[in-house]
Amino acid sequence: MSAYEIVHHEYDAIVVGAGGAGLRATLGLAEAGLKTANITKLFPTRSHTVAAQGGISAALANMGRDDWRWHFYDTVKGSDWLGDQDAIQYMTREAIPAIIELEHYGVPFSRTPEGKIYQRPFGGMTTEFGKGPPAQRTCAAADRTGHAMLHTLYQQSLKCKAQFYIEYFALDLLMDDDGSCKGVLAWDMATGQLHRFRAHLVILATGGYGRAYFSATSAHTCTGDGGGMVLRAGLPLQDLEFVQFHPTGIYGSGCLITEGARGEGGYLTNKSGERFMERYAPSVKDLAPRDMVSRAMATEIREGRGVGEEGDHIHLHLEHLGPEVLHQRLPGISESAKIFAGVDVTKEPIPVVPTVHYNMGGIPTLWTGEVVTKRDGNPDSIVQGLMAVGEAACVSVHGANRLGSNSLLDLVVFGRAAAIRAAELVKPDTPHKKISSASEDKALTRLDRFRNARGGTPTAKIRLDMQKTMQKHCAVFRDGPTMQEGIIKLKSVIDNYVQDVGVSDRGMIWNSDLVETLELDNLLGQALLTIVGAENRKESRGAHARDDIKDRDDKEWIKHTIAWRTGDTDVQIDYRPVHMQPLDNEVEHIPPVARKY
Ligand code: SIN
Repeated sequence: MSAYEIVHHEYDAIVVGAGGAGLRATLGLAEAGLKTANITKLFPTRSHTVAAQGGISAALANMGRDDWRWHFYDTVKGSDWLGDQDAIQYMTREAIPAIIELEHYGVPFSRTPEGKIYQRPFGGMTTEFGKGPPAQRTCAAADRTGHAMLHTLYQQSLKCKAQFYIEYFALDLLMDDDGSCKGVLAWDMATGQLHRFRAHLVILATGGYGRAYFSATSAHTCTGDGGGMVLRAGLPLQDLEFVQFHPTGIYGSGCLITEGARGEGGYLTNKSGERFMERYAPSVKDLAPRDMVSRAMATEIREGRGVGEEGDHIHLHLEHLGPEVLHQRLPGISESAKIFAGVDVTKEPIPVVPTVHYNMGGIPTLWTGEVVTKRDGNPDSIVQGLMAVGEAACVSVHGANRLGSNSLLDLVVFGRAAAIRAAELVKPDTPHKKISSASEDKALTRLDRFRNARGGTPTAKIRLDMQKTMQKHCAVFRDGPTMQEGIIKLKSVIDNYVQDVGVSDRGMIWNSDLVETLELDNLLGQALLTIVGAENRKESRGAHARDDIKDRDDKEWIKHTIAWRTGDTDVQIDYRPVHMQPLDNEVEHIPPVARKY
């Protein structure tokens, strides 16, 4: 049907995305002898994992007593009991071998004087099942941990002969009539050529959709492309209402200042110079989990105790740490503070404000990486041929609130787990069967429609309208009327996109106008599910803090939201049970209690 010439490829497995999760999966697949391709819209070492600063958690006990079972407990509690306890057990236990493996692959971790991997404290990480002092559990390569990991994993993947298709934009999943995934249609942005990749397994590792918001630490490339493809394939996304605000984005630019800064002894103050976290989390103070610190900062600002001319931000102090520690442990953020806030961190505080940082929700999966949907009453029905890992996925190990440094861990542990499961499922060189062309035809029709869109509203204007709507109506604090108004506004933004978006470049070579329009389509779907899911959840839990319903409701709401986009502005909501039981008896299930620090 199509006017496009398409190049055909066949692989055992394909990974879409080359951040930490995508690379770890790619490496594992190639090591297992599967013919593997990685399709990535960015050069691998430019993926957003490069911006992960503070570190990766694992109970190595290099700098004090620790136990992975304490890490398990902290993560369940940090998730506000929305995390799946089987997956959390798997992640916290496998953290230890996964980090040692990274060390052996060559990640240049910072070292203790004895030569062990250096570990710093991070928010919500404690000892003795929450009863002991903070744990030093976050393994760091100064404040460039993600950067160090990306380079190592990319080099190792090349060594194992994984094939990379770089600066290829994944357009849509190729689904067969039986609902299984059989490949991906992608666009080589440099040549304009379209490529069909057939595979027995597609692993989505496309990252989060932070750019649905106006102010985010996420790169401009974080447009939830995997989530967008999943929605168009008629599959649901899970728990999108849980959006993490990182307490310390630089005021104005949103650039990240790592939680490791507070891990090294930094602290927050309001306009009176008060260390206000002492009032909100008396035991762990500035090292409370992110949802709590962000709420405390927002409350200080709302109640007139913010700093600056407009009283709309907070100060982060590092001056007292001294130039030596700052140079050795926090060189990257010292530079960012200078560039983006004009601040010399050895002398003055950094102006910071809670900034969108991470999506706890995403593509629902089991701890093996296999994507699930709810079918015929089965909430864990596996979608054959499709896996998801990293921020794109919702395993769910983070539940309603992620602990800092559990994200890099999630990438590595579940990238590795997906490759292990793939090697069980796929026999190398299994031939590919013919599939229905329906999903490819649909993908090409969609591409053509946007390529030839002649409406009067530029993509950038619609994107800004979406971002401002989300920032105002689905923020750190939310309430029913504000969100209902936000839903009406967002639906009209989507209508405007559908009816009036204009793309001026009709070419196929480096058509960034079209790329941004397709990315916006992915963002809009996830923005819609986020705000509709948030309005629908009638409780406060983790990062979802409602002013009008302040309490957590365990009777009604210990369940995952799953949501389908059934029309441009239509959403269908259902639920999956939270897996409250661990994998085995190495740990005991942690029953819900009030979350205090
Ligand atoms: C940070 O260093 O604060 C970011 C890392 C993370 O989000 O876990």
